[in-house]
Amino acid sequence: MMKTTERHRDETFVRQMFAAVADRYDLMNTLLTLNLDAYWRRRAVFHSGLQRGQIALDVCCGTGKLTLQLARKVGPEGSVVGVDFSSAMLARAQANLHGTPYLPVVQYLEANALHLPFPDHRFHCSTIGFGLRNVSDIAQTLKEMIRVTKPGGTIVILELAKPRLPILKQCYHLYANYWLPAIGNLGPQRHRLYQMVPESLKTLPEPEEICLLLRNLNLSAVRCRRLSGGLVAVYTGYKDPAPFSSVRTAT
Ligand SMILES: C[S@@+](CC[C@H](N)C(=O)[O-])C[C@H]1O[C@@H](n2cnc3c(N)ncnc32)[C@H](O)[C@@H]1O
Repeated sequence: MMKTTERHRDETFVRQMFAAVADRYDLMNTLLTLNLDAYWRRRAVFHSGLQRGQIALDVCCGTGKLTLQLARKVGPEGSVVGVDFSSAMLARAQANLHGTPYLPVVQYLEANALHLPFPDHRFHCSTIGFGLRNVSDIAQTLKEMIRVTKPGGTIVILELAKPRLPILKQCYHLYANYWLPAIGNLGPQRHRLYQMVPESLKTLPEPEEICLLLRNLNLSAVRCRRLSGGLVAVYTGYKDPAPFSSVRTAT
């Protein structure tokens, strides 16, 4: 059900698309969301439960905006690894990192989310921000994030959603189906990313499905928090600290 062959999940296409938009990605996001994207990332980090000195992983880190928020949270005693398979997006991430106090805290790595190059139980928290729509296999990506997270650690997903309030729903329909693609048409192929948004939203599982998937992957205390009238959602779940704790000895 989750594995799709749509364009926005085709790895070659996704790489080309992000290579074409990398230099403008941050600016476009800020303009198109009226800077709400920064607030959404801060909320995701707030719900991560991360503490100073801990180690975090940011999958599909792109230009590193969420990675930097994580670095701020863990502080100079902690560390954060950002992973993406687009070298163009990682180059922007590296540029964004320079001039921040987080240079010693953050490390970027070119790798595929479906096969993370880390041992099991390495990170206190693994996040993915606005990346679930583009990976070729959602379940495999989440399995990898869970594998590399320490028992008791958190998985955090920040992703676009569809508003439920009728008035917001209509505004969003106009915005996603007409305004974003119109912006996409401004360049030859630079902003195909924004033409893709309505398409990618159609195939994104509903919040209930994402929560069910997280529970089926054995995460506990799974929660979905809708932000900004349901425009985006933050999903959290914990990797069970003691997988066999439900087995009790009869007394
Ligand atoms: C919409 S951007 C999100 C970037 C960033 N997390 C943010 O909050 O803005 C999605 C990113 O996912 C990356 N991506 C998509 N599929 C991937 C995969 N299988 N492995 C690694 N990165 C992937 C893309 O290269 C792109 O940088």
